[in-house]
Amino acid sequence: MVGGGSGPAWQSGGVSVSREAFEQRDRDDPLAGRRDLFVLPDGVIYLDGNSLGALVRTVPERMRSAVEDEWGSGLIRSWNDADWYTAPQRVGAQLAALVGADADEVIVCDSTSVNLFKVLVAAARLEPTRRTIVTDETTFPTDAYITTEAAGLTGTVVSSVASDEVVAAMEAAGEDLLAVSLTDVDYRTARRHDMRAITQRAHELGGLAVWDLCHSAGVLPVDLAGCSVDLAVGCTYKYLNGGPGSPAFVFVAARHLDAIQQPLPGWHGHARPFALEAAYEPAPGIVRMLSGTAPQLGLLALEAALTAYKDVALDDVRAKSIALTEAFIELADERLAAHGFTVASPRRSAERGSHVALGHDHAYGITQALIARGVIGDFREPNLVRLGFAPLYVRHVDVWDAVELLVDVMEREEWTDAAHQQRNAVT
Ligand SMILES: Cc1ncc(COP(=O)(O)O)c(C=O)c1O
Repeated sequence: MVGGGSGPAWQSGGVSVSREAFEQRDRDDPLAGRRDLFVLPDGVIYLDGNSLGALVRTVPERMRSAVEDEWGSGLIRSWNDADWYTAPQRVGAQLAALVGADADEVIVCDSTSVNLFKVLVAAARLEPTRRTIVTDETTFPTDAYITTEAAGLTGTVVSSVASDEVVAAMEAAGEDLLAVSLTDVDYRTARRHDMRAITQRAHELGGLAVWDLCHSAGVLPVDLAGCSVDLAVGCTYKYLNGGPGSPAFVFVAARHLDAIQQPLPGWHGHARPFALEAAYEPAPGIVRMLSGTAPQLGLLALEAALTAYKDVALDDVRAKSIALTEAFIELADERLAAHGFTVASPRRSAERGSHVALGHDHAYGITQALIARGVIGDFREPNLVRLGFAPLYVRHVDVWDAVELLVDVMEREEWTDAAHQQRNAVT
């Protein structure tokens, strides 16, 4: 039960819950000070850090110096003088620490979609006698499109099944299992797969395990090494706050680095890029996962944003994420169910990432009406209001206030306003 504190309260299940109790949680929060590292507009409760993380205060000045000093004055010399050239590895090493990998197993480049294509084709080349890629039919669409295409190009087949049938599908594939490729935290419901158990089963069957960490990186302790994951990808613009379109990352376990052959070999992944040789020879190590020139400004913005994680314990982040999402679910049950909402996310915290999806027949209009009241979340097809709780800057009291405002939106039927029915290009 949330709360139980003092002050004006409404009664439910015999336990008093009050805004003061949430304020007390903020006073006790070991991460409370992190919020000051972010630019957050007044009057906004930002519950969409699972889509686009908030701006870290170090980023604007870093962008100014990168643009004016390094690009403007340094010009091309900055590839050497400002260490632009090594940024993919340097930032990759910082990300590695957040996903339980070694520094030389992660590199930053391209988008998640492109990196997934690279690792799936590379997986097929690592296991040329195996032909089945098992995936989850609820995976993010880009993952499904890329997997289908990668399979078509490598002469392999995709077995796309319901989340709870993944292990059965792997077992059905048996000796033909090439890889299981899954998103750790589901983009709609926040349902988590059991990375450790699934990876282990894939290995017992002789296959590989590929994980998409888009909704995990930076918000829960991922243990790629401990789970013996083979390959992984993820984006950096959600909980890692890299900014719109910031480059993604790719992980290759050290044991595969000598053999891996990715399908988009470019000059930045060459052993000697500036020898400009006619024939491709992959660079040693993770650098071979690079293709072309990095989106340098995005990479530098990401590097500056990662300072928000300096000395943060991911166990604290996870504990706060659980507290926030549990409190939200509890308040949703008590105050929002009567307005037609259902909780579409797992109720067991261990099985949930850091967002909560509420089902409602009028989810689109409700999301827009809520945004108009300053609570920013997003809508996901077919009927979900999706609210993300980024523990570095979302406060406990934001959970309380967001529910209050949502109740108000429902009581006043603000979602029926024609302006809130207008579909935006980005929902
Ligand atoms: C789970 C998942 N995978 C992949 C993507 C797409 O990544 P990108 O646009 O970097 O290719 C997203 C985007 O939200 C996502 O949620």
